Amino acid sequence: MSPGQLVLPLFVAEGLSEPRPVASMPGVVQHSRESLRKAVSEAASLGLGGVMLFGIPEHKDATGTQALDPDGILNAAIADARAEVGDDILVMSDLCLDEFTDHGHCGVLDDSGAVDNDATLEIYAQMAQIHAASGAHFVGPSGMMDGQVARVRLALDESGRSNVGILAYAAKYASSFYGPFRDAVNSSLVGDRRTYQQDPANGREAVREALLDVAEGADIVMVKPALGFLDVIARVRDAVDIPVAAYNVSGEYSMIEAAAERGWIDRQSAIEESVISIRRAGADIVLTYWAAELAHQLRN
Ligand code: PBG
Repeated sequence: MSPGQLVLPLFVAEGLSEPRPVASMPGVVQHSRESLRKAVSEAASLGLGGVMLFGIPEHKDATGTQALDPDGILNAAIADARAEVGDDILVMSDLCLDEFTDHGHCGVLDDSGAVDNDATLEIYAQMAQIHAASGAHFVGPSGMMDGQVARVRLALDESGRSNVGILAYAAKYASSFYGPFRDAVNSSLVGDRRTYQQDPANGREAVREALLDVAEGADIVMVKPALGFLDVIARVRDAVDIPVAAYNVSGEYSMIEAAAERGWIDRQSAIEESVISIRRAGADIVLTYWAAELAHQLRN
């Protein structure tokens, strides 16, 4: 394992003057724009492979308007990050609507209240162009809409951004392990995402999803969550010829932090074992909230 294989997810919230701790994720904060710049610069000096930015707007609405405002929190943060680190580290951006919608879904809804796949794709296309114009090296479409990689690739190419890469959330399961993340992004989701995320009982479908994303132009395919889905990571690694990433998600992080706080588990070795296992299963790249800490250790 080396720092360059790790990507650090970072949250930035509009209107903060100080970082605000995320209660359900000890050690993780919602950054202010100011503190985000420092975190990105630290990630670069640690030699991490990248940062994945999530933005939390003050105002959410039904269509996630803030996502398309060039001065909106995520777009401003992408620009801040690039101004801070240039090309020293990959600046990646979460391309999804759930942080921006008041209903908390990853897309816009139709009259019946169901997520409207194709209307959402058009918004993702615009978001991709704005993220790229703000300076993202990679966009990470995470909403699991069918056809999202092809639509985003087309939008990037049409706006002259053919060098901006796509880290595709290819197999994203409808998982309980995203619980603490919903706290981190002040999510207002009621219900679940089972109409567009994968069924945890189904492994085969993940390979199909990954192959579709490769065909649509993904540069990296990701499996998420990681620890309960090591078999899926291995299957996808065997099936594709591009890098595979895995997301060591919030619930996986918080379970270890909480157990360690109580003295029920050896924190350090549990963290190492988790991330090594994800690598062993076949992930070339690991998104983990422990990325900076692990990089510190790897360098010593
Ligand atoms: C959607 C998104 C989610 C996560 C990353 N991107 C939440 C979801 O799909 O419900 C979860 C990350 C984590 O739990 O650490 N924008």
